Amino acid sequence: MYPLRRNRRLRANESIRSLVRETIITPNDFLVPLFVVEGKGVKEEIASMPNYYRFSLDLLEGEVKELWKLGLKSVLLFVKVPDNLKDNKGTEALNPNGLMQRAIKTVKNVCPDMLVMTDVALDPYSAYGHDGIVKNGMILNDDTADVLAEMSISHAKAGANFVAPSDMMDGRILTIREALEDEGFINTGIMSYSAKYASAFYGPFRDALDSAPVDMIDVPKDKKTYQMDYGNRIEAIRETEMDIDEGADIVMVKPGLCYLDIVREVKDAVDVPVAVYQVSGEYAMIKAASEKGWLNHDAVMMEQVTAIKRAGADVIASYFAKDVVKLIS
Ligand code: PBG
Repeated sequence: MYPLRRNRRLRANESIRSLVRETIITPNDFLVPLFVVEGKGVKEEIASMPNYYRFSLDLLEGEVKELWKLGLKSVLLFVKVPDNLKDNKGTEALNPNGLMQRAIKTVKNVCPDMLVMTDVALDPYSAYGHDGIVKNGMILNDDTADVLAEMSISHAKAGANFVAPSDMMDGRILTIREALEDEGFINTGIMSYSAKYASAFYGPFRDALDSAPVDMIDVPKDKKTYQMDYGNRIEAIRETEMDIDEGADIVMVKPGLCYLDIVREVKDAVDVPVAVYQVSGEYAMIKAASEKGWLNHDAVMMEQVTAIKRAGADVIASYFAKDVVKLIS
């Protein structure tokens, strides 16, 4: 009781604050998303994601080495697929010599200990910009899960340590897990996007991969029949528990900042590591506001990643990973 307790004593200076700080960000917290494109010598900035780039495989090598030197030891690969290779069922995703498969090998080649996670979903390969196969205005669930399982095997064969299904089809974790077991990939992990919400914050990512749903009759305009409704909370726990039962090693809540209540609830409910994806729109907001001089970039970046960790994230997938690590080292 006051004045016996004066809480400000623990805030008096940086030494005492750092001594009692509960949440500390380190390079080990981060999973780094990387965008890969075909070509040579390509490092193109993504318009809606300032200072974030798509790399061709030759330049990906240098980027990966730099990450490793900074202490960033896990990457999450995404590929931008040329339009002429897109169709409705992700045929190109299964190409053993496809861009993803070559990207996995490239990373493992330059940096064998780098943990490689791969995005598993149809949207970068889909002529319709959907995470699953489209038929009569609907997204087919079980047929899509079968393709995702084949994709996962293909990534595992190329050397991926973890596959990361980001599609939200029902039952796909079990389908993928059984396929991996059947093929002998008993050590390949699954990081499931288990509570992934239908969010407007994915806009810049869809620019990066040119993967937005197309505007055509009989093609759903959004992803609301598979990604979760942002009004829902209890459903996030059910989705997550089901994915764990089906064989997920790591579960994920996505996006980050608007969903930190969900992160805490999931963290308290489960006993596997919880990942949080601070998504492209969250990155873009900080970049835009700080370019205008309205927010202090580094300060809001640190505040947000710390909030994500404080909420319960064991793993943070973030486009800020490099910026953060440079700032704190
Ligand atoms: C698609 C996928 C998306 C993201 C990761 N995987 C976008 C979407 O669901 O449309 C978003 C990542 C981001 O916005 O940073 N499978």
